[in-house]
Amino acid sequence: MTKRIIALPGDGIGKEIMDSALRILSEIMVQDSIDFDIQEYPFGGAGIDSEGDPLPEKTLKACQESDAILLGAIGGPKWDQAPKRPEQGLLGLRKALGLFANIRPISVPKAVIHLSPLKEENVKDVDFIVVRELTGGIYFGEKRLDEDQASDLCTYTKTEIQRIIRKAFEIARTRNKKVTSVDKANVLATSKLWRQTADEVAQEFPDCTLEHQLVDSAAMVMITRPKDFDVIVTENLFGDILSDEASVIPGSLGMMPSASHSESGPSLYEPIHGSAPDIAGQDIANPMSMILSAAMMLRQSFGMEETAQKIESACDQVMNAGVLTKDLGGNAGTREFTDAVLKELRS
Ligand code: NAD
Ligand code: IPM
Ligand code: MN
Repeated sequence: MTKRIIALPGDGIGKEIMDSALRILSEIMVQDSIDFDIQEYPFGGAGIDSEGDPLPEKTLKACQESDAILLGAIGGPKWDQAPKRPEQGLLGLRKALGLFANIRPISVPKAVIHLSPLKEENVKDVDFIVVRELTGGIYFGEKRLDEDQASDLCTYTKTEIQRIIRKAFEIARTRNKKVTSVDKANVLATSKLWRQTADEVAQEFPDCTLEHQLVDSAAMVMITRPKDFDVIVTENLFGDILSDEASVIPGSLGMMPSASHSESGPSLYEPIHGSAPDIAGQDIANPMSMILSAAMMLRQSFGMEETAQKIESACDQVMNAGVLTKDLGGNAGTREFTDAVLKELRS
């Protein structure tokens, strides 16, 4: 059956890297004789420009009626003072679709191990997943901004914590069965509930182990001993920060994909990075984050494991052959890298 995919290129490099992913999906349609119905919709700054809203109604409706959503990136200086910023569109979309579980895998392709700023022996064989809670916490609590006082409320319900911890254990079960729950339980009430709930949910998974780490020390361990981790589960804000930190292990944000799932309904796949205004429009962005997000979509939404692997290994082969974008010290452009992946897929 035809899969309905909504593509939201967004802003900045979002458009450039979406173009790469769509070219790869076109090739997959031919190779696997599969039909994707891919429709593009305005979102983020592009939504503000064309519809006056970062999450236009027609965009949300199309996403709700889709089988999966691919998102490039949103935001940029042009809209930083807008009454409703592009980022609000992204948070609104995550909330409207109930995308509470954001999966951010971290591994280091062999071809770039030597490029990591960390010691080679520490990054070799790193393979962990950050499971970030995505629809609660300080992002969505009441906000007040007065002239000389401001506040952001951080709230978590037990149910919200239970479902994300369960998700982490379900993923750990398919891997090395170790969950590291990251919180700030020495200070925050939400973290105390988080830790207590994680302990309770762990009882449902006797085949797995649970450890707790405070977020400050977890940030340090991530750089000194990243191999210690299997599945990290954490709240919205900590997950945002720790996953950008984790991108330092392979050496570039430009390689990092993600998947966001709800309890039922379409999932959304997006790079973890932003619209990179500093390099937008120059054909130098690394499109791997977007291509690998598309591969995650094929695997996790459509069950196309072999095809996902085919795309991932094509990216690896291309990098092994020395075709690298600027963020990794190479000089291949976005289109050139994508051309090389397409050539590899066809070989
Ligand atoms: P950013 O992630 O856009 O960029 C951080 C750094 O990483 C920049 O130097 C950039 O050039 C580099 N980089 C990012 N992706 C790259 C790629 N694919 N290839 C090569 N280099 C890459 O973060 P920022 O500059 O702090 O934010 C820019 C805008 O993006 C802001 O408006 C922010 O709110 C937004 N943002 C959006 C998302 C999203 O759409 N999911 C995520 C993060 C930030
Ligand atoms: C991300 C981004 C977003 C977030 C912003 C743009 C709202 O940084 O997807 O990681 O903080 O969740
Ligand atoms: Mn982020």
